[in-house]
Amino acid sequence: MAVRQALPEDAARIAEIHTASWQTAFRGIMPDDFLDNQNAEARRIEWLQNMREYPGNLLIVEDGSAGVLGFSCTGPVTNQEMNRFDGRIFGIHVAPDAKRRGYGQQLMISSFKRLALLGCRNAMLWTLEENAPARLFYEKLGGQIVDRKLIMLAGKELAEIAYSWDALVLQNGHQG
Ligand SMILES: CC(C)(COP(=O)(O)OP(=O)(O)OC[C@H]1O[C@@H](n2cnc3c(N)ncnc32)[C@H](O)[C@@H]1OP(=O)(O)O)[C@@H](O)C(=O)NCCC(=O)NCCS
Repeated sequence: MAVRQALPEDAARIAEIHTASWQTAFRGIMPDDFLDNQNAEARRIEWLQNMREYPGNLLIVEDGSAGVLGFSCTGPVTNQEMNRFDGRIFGIHVAPDAKRRGYGQQLMISSFKRLALLGCRNAMLWTLEENAPARLFYEKLGGQIVDRKLIMLAGKELAEIAYSWDALVLQNGHQG
């Protein structure tokens, strides 16, 4: 298993994992028709643009002949939202058939180390309150709940929870 920065040629696989992950993990939380209409090609184009705008933010994990099995997008906070935090994890997804094999944890460790190298003293992310597996994952990695908000997505009101990690955790990769 190895984590590296994503290249433009990884964008199609990243978009495929992203789409499949939403359609699996968020089923029952987000409306079915919204999930069924997710468009992998649109995501591929968005990720290519993201790589151009924010070089280095997108990390992928790959494993031998299985190739790319997950990705995370992290970087310094670029807007004023939650501005008491320096670093942000914008998203992390592991291919639905490759979950629970440690790929997500390796992505988080690499993401934390990168944020620490960039001078971030802490980091945060938002996750859906109803996304119980992800919340257990973040709590295993030492994440602390620091906020809650309501968002509108596809015409449905959803609650999001913010988790944070401090400098020590970032430098060491994780704790817990
Ligand atoms: C959340 C996610 C990234 C975790 O990645 P993963 O590779 O499956 O997780 P790991 O195998 O690295 O898990 C590390 C530890 O986290 C905890 N954990 C992970 N998934 C868990 C689950 N479903 N239930 C309980 N604990 C879990 C466990 O303690 C696990 O260690 P263990 O397997 O030795 O017990 C992945 O499940 C995923 O892509 N989910 C769908 C997308 C998503 O929800 N992303 C987050 C959006 S904010």
